[in-house]
Amino acid sequence: MKSKIVVIDDEIKLLKVIKRALEIDGYEVYDFSNPFEGLDFIKTRESDLVISDIRMSGMTGLDILSNIRDLYPEKPVILMTAYSSVDTAITAVKLGASDYLLKPFELSDLKESVSKILDKKSENEAKSSNIPTIIGNSAEILKIQEIIDNISDTDSTILITGESGTGKELIAKCIHQKSPRASHAFVPVNCSAIPESLFESEMFGHKKGSFTGAIMDKKGLFKEAEGGTLFLDEIGDLPLATQAKLLRVLQDGTYRPVGASGQNKSNVRILCATNKNLAEEVKKGNFREDLLYRINVVEIELPPLRKRNGDIKLLAEYFISYYSKKHNRKIKSATPDFFELLSNYKWPGNIRQLENSIERAVIMRKSEILDSSDLRLPTSIEESSSLTIPDTGLPLAETIDKVEISIINQALKSTGGNYSKAASLLGITRQNLNYKLHKYNIRKEDQ
Ligand SMILES: Nc1ncnc2c1ncn2[C@@H]1O[C@H](COP(=O)(O)OP(=O)(O)OP(=O)(O)O)[C@@H](O)[C@H]1O
Ligand SMILES: [Mg+2]
Repeated sequence: MKSKIVVIDDEIKLLKVIKRALEIDGYEVYDFSNPFEGLDFIKTRESDLVISDIRMSGMTGLDILSNIRDLYPEKPVILMTAYSSVDTAITAVKLGASDYLLKPFELSDLKESVSKILDKKSENEAKSSNIPTIIGNSAEILKIQEIIDNISDTDSTILITGESGTGKELIAKCIHQKSPRASHAFVPVNCSAIPESLFESEMFGHKKGSFTGAIMDKKGLFKEAEGGTLFLDEIGDLPLATQAKLLRVLQDGTYRPVGASGQNKSNVRILCATNKNLAEEVKKGNFREDLLYRINVVEIELPPLRKRNGDIKLLAEYFISYYSKKHNRKIKSATPDFFELLSNYKWPGNIRQLENSIERAVIMRKSEILDSSDLRLPTSIEESSSLTIPDTGLPLAETIDKVEISIINQALKSTGGNYSKAASLLGITRQNLNYKLHKYNIRKEDQ
């Protein structure tokens, strides 16, 4: 990711020289000769660093700096001036300028200052821990934490498996954030969402004019993740032809953008996830064995929530406190009843479903202490399939339809209305699910 720098100076010639010099160094530069426009941009758009002249007509660089401090206390600002005075220098430091350059200066001095400040910024950002919190102290989770600590600083490919909603993406992010690649991008790719015909161009990029519709050069996902981590989610859904293309880049570490003559070298760590059993898929002929060997150098298997009952309470408490803060609710605690209901439930949608249920309970709460009546848990699939026949008898076909509708609705709810995930939760194909949605006239908006 290119760092974005805003440069403000009413001396247009110098402004353009600075812009070019920084662009050559690979920064994205937005230049303004009008300080008001510059400040407006800073307030409304993202930027990593501001460089501003001090004396300008209408507004000074010190005004700009103090405006920035109100909004973004941490944003680095470099001030430049041709009129040095002890007073302005003191004010600049007091307001928290990161550096102060006297004109005329060498461009190399400016560049050095910029790169120092931005390096420090990205180091701090990586340190100030975007590392996601993984809640749980079951033996399974502790073992997983240990594996993560062990493999984060390597470049090995990891396969993360587990049912829908067990935390596969969270684990992938955590590995990235704990790795030396943390200051570069983490790029998640949902493999099942890329049409087969576009796979190469999406992953490896393409050259302008390489096929109809390629009106510009396109940077592929490998390029976007350069230096960082590419997270191939739902890798079990890749068609066989595409698997071969992926295998090639994993094997030689090089790839060729569509329409390009040369190869690009890739410096990307690959993490993969799937809710399928890939060994089974290999047996069925749906997944290449050689690709499986490549990607599961280390496998992290996330157990379903129902198999680590001990973590349910911890997770629930964590989500209660998180969502109380987020939704401005004063929730003190929850009754033993509440936790008992949670721990007896089977959680087909795993942690995602637990999280959604708690968020809903927090929003809809009746008092400062949550109790079981605040929870709305759909009857689990097992319970609804063990119906007993009432004395009055029951029309079988109709009852089966009702059970099916209820289960489909539950699956849609617990996957947040995601059809592919709901289908995989139900163990049916997407097409089969579509057919049933149509048959029972179930719409997403009903969820
Ligand atoms: N151990 C955990 N501690 C805290 N939050 C968690 C934990 N595991 C998962 N979560 C939360 O649960 C939700 C679902 O996790 P995530 O998206 O990583 O699951 P997934 O396995 O990738 O699901 P899917 O297969 O449906 O894509 C996220 O909001 C995540 O932050
Ligand atoms: Mg996921």
